[in-house]
Amino acid sequence: MPSLTIDGTQATVESGSTVLDAAKKLGIEIPTLCHHEHLLPYGACRLCTVEITQRGATRLQAACAYPAEEGISVRTNSSRILKGRKLMMHFLLSRCPDVPAVRKKAAEFGITRPRFAPKNEKCILCGMCVRVCNEVLGASAIGFADRGIFRRVEPAFAQPSEACLGCGACTFVCPTGHIQMESQTRDFWRDKLGAEQRQCRYARMGLVAHKVCPRSFQCQKCEVDQAMEETLKTHPAFVARPVERKLPVTIEEFTVMPQLYFAKNHLWLKRLDGKVKVGIDDFARKVISRVDDIVMPSAGDTLSRGEAVWELRSGGRTLSLRTPLGGRLIDVNTDLLTDPSLATKDPYYRGWLALVWPREEEWRETAGRLQSGRAAEDWFASEAERLYHWSEPAGKAMAADGGRLIPDLPGKLSETQWKALTGAFFADV
Ligand code: SF4
Ligand code: SF4
Ligand code: FES
Repeated sequence: MPSLTIDGTQATVESGSTVLDAAKKLGIEIPTLCHHEHLLPYGACRLCTVEITQRGATRLQAACAYPAEEGISVRTNSSRILKGRKLMMHFLLSRCPDVPAVRKKAAEFGITRPRFAPKNEKCILCGMCVRVCNEVLGASAIGFADRGIFRRVEPAFAQPSEACLGCGACTFVCPTGHIQMESQTRDFWRDKLGAEQRQCRYARMGLVAHKVCPRSFQCQKCEVDQAMEETLKTHPAFVARPVERKLPVTIEEFTVMPQLYFAKNHLWLKRLDGKVKVGIDDFARKVISRVDDIVMPSAGDTLSRGEAVWELRSGGRTLSLRTPLGGRLIDVNTDLLTDPSLATKDPYYRGWLALVWPREEEWRETAGRLQSGRAAEDWFASEAERLYHWSEPAGKAMAADGGRLIPDLPGKLSETQWKALTGAFFADV
């Protein structure tokens, strides 16, 4: 049960809570637009930005995604914060000037017109639809395509997806009304399946054992569907598949994401519909401190397990990372080419490195060597212990502050010390 201070008031919260949860507990309002209590934090809108002071350093962080850690001090209303939030709101309103939900949120900030050239989009790229489909339904029928100004939500190859359950949860969570159940999807299901194979969406979501849809997926004309919605008072997906809310856990000074797998060389892996996303974990992030430059392979390359494929450079030192998984590299995070520091600023979300498509047996073999859940937490604890007591060849170079990592490690170690350190912690996959 960590204790933290928010705007001068102390709060003790359940372990696994976020700063946003802690503020809520104290009755402190923090605006949000991409947060949903049943979905994992994503940190897209940045309206919930707060100042967090930890071990003498103050940083702006998204309250919805920052774990409520022991001893941190949070400010929710400094002029710097309010200015930053207002700027984000201007960006959102300029992107979607005609979306009622965005206009309403902007009005709460006293903003009535967009400051920048209006884009007339309807999607704020909050990722709620993608997250509900992936995290709650496990369908992964939709995802983000493209980047920068072309970024958008769509099914793979922009075609109606066989993976879609037609559950409508994406429509339900979308704050802007951009994502709608298309008759195209219903037609797709109708054409594909014979009458007796048309499973009702409640059966497809696992809420009832078996039920054939007699209405050709016209849910709004179905009395069972309407009665269910009335009774549940939320989207059935949240009842049918309640996800255990898995929030980040802090082990020593390292943040561990319970839904991820971790490789021995401190890369995280997340399986998404057969593909595997890869990034650096918080341990690697704190050791490398800040990435100034990054070398990565190109999409389309074939990776072999154990091959050194990424180089993260910081202050003249290089952290070379091998891939723990072989397969086809189907996407790389090109945002890192324009801003390499994203890898360390946001390692579990926007700083991801690669999307790999492994063969099933390759994945099974790799998964056996990865750590997750409690095992990952224990492993982080032992890695922290090993790091704090790492003494070769630099004497007690690591344990600067009663077992805390000294900041800007690459700049403090000689080339020989750095090589020894990275060899000890990042060589094995
Ligand atoms: S309808 Fe359900 S399964 Fe289909 S894209 Fe939306 S959330 Fe995913
Ligand atoms: S379609 Fe809606 S839920 Fe999905 S990213 Fe856009 S605004 Fe968010
Ligand atoms: S609610 Fe926290 S970033 Fe959107």
